[in-house]
Amino acid sequence: MVEPCLSYFAHPVDSVGGVISVPGDKSISHRALMLGAVAEGNTQIEGILRGEDCIATWVALERMGVSINHGPDSTVVIKGVGLQGLRAPLDSLDLGNSGTAMRLLTGLLAPQSFEATLTGDQSLRRRPMTRVVEPLRAMGAKIETQDGYPPVLIQCAENLIGVSHRLKIASAQVKSALLFAGLSARGVTTIQSPGITRDHTERMLLKMGVKVVTDDSHKVSLEGPAQPRGTRIVVPGDFSSAAFFIVAGCLASELGLLIKNVGVNPSRTGLLSILRAMGAQIEIKHNRDQSLEPTADIEVKKSTLHGIKIPRELVPQAIDEFPALFVAAACADGMTVVSGAKELRYKESDRLRVMAEGLKMLGTEVHEQSDGLTINGGGLGGGTVDSCNDHRVAMAFALASVVAKGPIEILGASEVATSFPNFLITAAQAGLRIETSTGGAVD
Ligand code: S3P
Repeated sequence: MVEPCLSYFAHPVDSVGGVISVPGDKSISHRALMLGAVAEGNTQIEGILRGEDCIATWVALERMGVSINHGPDSTVVIKGVGLQGLRAPLDSLDLGNSGTAMRLLTGLLAPQSFEATLTGDQSLRRRPMTRVVEPLRAMGAKIETQDGYPPVLIQCAENLIGVSHRLKIASAQVKSALLFAGLSARGVTTIQSPGITRDHTERMLLKMGVKVVTDDSHKVSLEGPAQPRGTRIVVPGDFSSAAFFIVAGCLASELGLLIKNVGVNPSRTGLLSILRAMGAQIEIKHNRDQSLEPTADIEVKKSTLHGIKIPRELVPQAIDEFPALFVAAACADGMTVVSGAKELRYKESDRLRVMAEGLKMLGTEVHEQSDGLTINGGGLGGGTVDSCNDHRVAMAFALASVVAKGPIEILGASEVATSFPNFLITAAQAGLRIETSTGGAVD
């Protein structure tokens, strides 16, 4: 259960270590639920994330007539209804805090023969939708927003046509929304991205029998109508959740911290390249390809980190990891410069502003630019920071406590449950010391 005003009190520790695992990948879980719902036949999902964001997608699909059941060994089985089989929801669909649910469902519902309204919490109602809605309108979709923001009203538009669209920013959410709409459209839908974006949608569609064509210039296309077929999907641990422990291990694990069964899709692991360039000791072990996504164990050890200028081209591959990375930069020797990261302003919070303010509260010298931060490292003090109800900001400051000079109070930690149920339990296993304003572990 989420608590509206939960705070964390995170205490410095001598060391972190041991063997942990993290919950299923959020991006892959959303896609498995949505594509499983419109597939022909059953889809069996192993390792799905049961965080609030994915539950919002799950409930929305059930409200459109999809049956999703718990199978044996904590699997989930979806009875696919086919591309035309979803039913009109009786009321608006509340997607809580989830930007991925909002963007991807907009694409999935754009070609449907019914009307649906998608809405969400305060943070979600500040997330830009024009980037998704404009290209969908070019395909023939009829979609209204509130000046470019949710709630989103999707009207009946059954005869979409494939278009060729050039993304202005590298966004997997926009790409995936267009591919989802393209499944029901007539003709070829092509999306050209300016850089690498996570390719979970392409991999899953291929596994479901849809011919998706990709090339080295970040172009992807599919020809519709194309009906996905039900399949078995194994969801690896979420790299973005592992990221907090990767950084904690780099800062404070004398004997090593092993994180098991983590998705290491190269479109997601920019953090590893960046941390290694900062001097981190990270080993990828037991790399295995689970037919859908590359998966491995990640071992990290305490390392002497130094500041760097982060290459701009790595930013999209580490986009969700910047809160953790900014903490690493604050603890490194010297200056770290991040630019080309304006997208961070449009996440669950304005992550450039919120992280800069939090780090300053802990005594770090930070300069904020329109598209990045310059952080003068050298260690963190204790103090109170406000996560502004952003799950990744809250977890980043929780990990910061391992080397801080005093306890860190983190306001607004409830949203951690959106992506990382049992965060406090996993953190305790790794040796972090976090208390809550309710006086114990939540979840
Ligand atoms: C996601 C893509 C990323 C990421 C988000 C999840 C996805 O957003 O920040 O948390 O599942 O496709 P953008 O691709 O829009 O930057």
